[in-house]
Amino acid sequence: MFKETFQRYLTMIEQTLTQLPWDKGVLNESMYYSLIGGGKRIRPVLALASAETVGGNPETMLRPAVALELIHTYSLIHDDLPAMDNDDYRRGRLSNHKVFGDAQAILAGDALLTYAFELLADSELGQPERQLRMIREVAVAAGKDGMVGGQVADVAGEGRNLTLQEIEEIHKAKTGALLTVSARLGGVLAGGTEEQVRALTDYAQALGLAFQIKDDILDIVGDSKTLGKPTGSDLRLGKSTYVSLLGLEGAEQQLHTQILKAQSALKPFSEGAIFLNQLALYIQERKH
Ligand code: IPE
Ligand code: IPE
Ligand code: MG
Ligand code: MG
Ligand code: MG
Repeated sequence: MFKETFQRYLTMIEQTLTQLPWDKGVLNESMYYSLIGGGKRIRPVLALASAETVGGNPETMLRPAVALELIHTYSLIHDDLPAMDNDDYRRGRLSNHKVFGDAQAILAGDALLTYAFELLADSELGQPERQLRMIREVAVAAGKDGMVGGQVADVAGEGRNLTLQEIEEIHKAKTGALLTVSARLGGVLAGGTEEQVRALTDYAQALGLAFQIKDDILDIVGDSKTLGKPTGSDLRLGKSTYVSLLGLEGAEQQLHTQILKAQSALKPFSEGAIFLNQLALYIQERKH
């Protein structure tokens, strides 16, 4: 059942992404290159599943949901640049800058970010108040107090021994913020109550931290072919991670704690959040 539901969301997401009006030319090609043909689509899946959990119809919010994937993809393109993590592979093929060059990769990222806000503001959604609230929230989550701020702290921390609390803060910002706003976007646009949105928020905050802990674990024990990106990147760059600080077992334990925390936040939905519950397990067990 989990697999079927995940697949149903994926089909909607891939269709929406491919059917956006992609024009010819290097900018559109480079955006499309990084966006299509790889990626787990966790952020839009989380948005659609959260919408359905509060009784909404995911079909009605596909454009804002895929906007989150555009923002995420931009963050990956920039994250791989030589001036940042300097990684040559992403989603099973050469990184954007290895194909299109650094300048084009920076610009493809810029255009994905701005295009995302165009989709979030789509006038056909017809829910101006909820939309306005979420456009603002997505901007905050992606920006200086969220993902970009986290990336800045991540780069600044290279070669230094950070405390667990510092690492946790970086993870919550660079990865947790966008995952959290994804769940909130689905919940709010679908008309969830404040209590329901609160529960989704608590769930996604724990899930977001778990997601990055798992990413750090996979950077050590993962298979680069399965991951579609290089392993050992964190070691090479001298990043402090849950694994570097606590060891593999300690990191696994923290991961498990966050997964349990995420699942327990779903209590208010009782049977209504089976998919989200299993999504947490999927994130704990994932191999890529
Ligand atoms: C990788 O994200 C970067 C992090 C924020 C940990 P994902 O693991 O979601 O990457 P894709 O989208 O599946 O390629
Ligand atoms: C990146 O974290 C988080 C982003 C906001 C892109 P990582 O640098 O660990 O992500 P990967 O391992 O390259 O996907
Ligand atoms: Mg990075
Ligand atoms: Mg990286
Ligand atoms: Mg990583």
